Amino acid sequence: MGFTIAIDGPAAAGKGTLSKAIAAHFGFAHLDTGLLYRAVGAKTLLGVEPIEAALKLVASDMDDTDLRSPEVAQAASKVAVIPEVRAALVDFQRAFGARAGGAVLDGRDIGTVICPDAKVKLYVTASAEVRAERRYLELSAKGDASTREQVLADVKARDARDMERVEAPLKPADDAVLIDTSEMSIEDAIAKALAAIEAHT
Ligand code: C5P
Repeated sequence: MGFTIAIDGPAAAGKGTLSKAIAAHFGFAHLDTGLLYRAVGAKTLLGVEPIEAALKLVASDMDDTDLRSPEVAQAASKVAVIPEVRAALVDFQRAFGARAGGAVLDGRDIGTVICPDAKVKLYVTASAEVRAERRYLELSAKGDASTREQVLADVKARDARDMERVEAPLKPADDAVLIDTSEMSIEDAIAKALAAIEAHT
């Protein structure tokens, strides 16, 4: 069993940046599990039935840059409430988490459901306003026309759906280290995460 680091938290809290930095620091593999749900969500926008899309998911479905659009994000959080969709994606994620060389997985239910025995669990969060502003800047840099108000409404809708669903709702694991990045620089957040991990080794 390898060294597994579980990173959970709401949309645009900084999980992706932190996960990449942590994986690079330790030489571990990284899986952004949101991409699995985004790939399934994207298929449903093309008319594919969600459970079928989840059962037939292949790696190439996951590297489409269009998966980062707000439409796909909402579609992802809608398919993510379906228990059969989640069940279809469990084995792949657990196998990734058990890699001999060490693994960082980020998502919503990694510390609670996918890898409950992870060596270190981080719960990364920030206020909805701060997260929406970060996502807005990211999207506008890519030429997306969404307004600040739309992005904030999207973030809040996704938070509610992710936290209130019955199956694997977003919440910190009992043994997670909380990192609130609302008023932290990226460098400070990385330093805090690395210190929390070092403390567990
Ligand atoms: O992290 P990202 O924003 O890419 O995730 C897209 C959506 O996928 C989330 O809003 C959530 O509904 C779902 N998701 C999930 N469980 C995970 C990762 C993502 O339910 N482990």
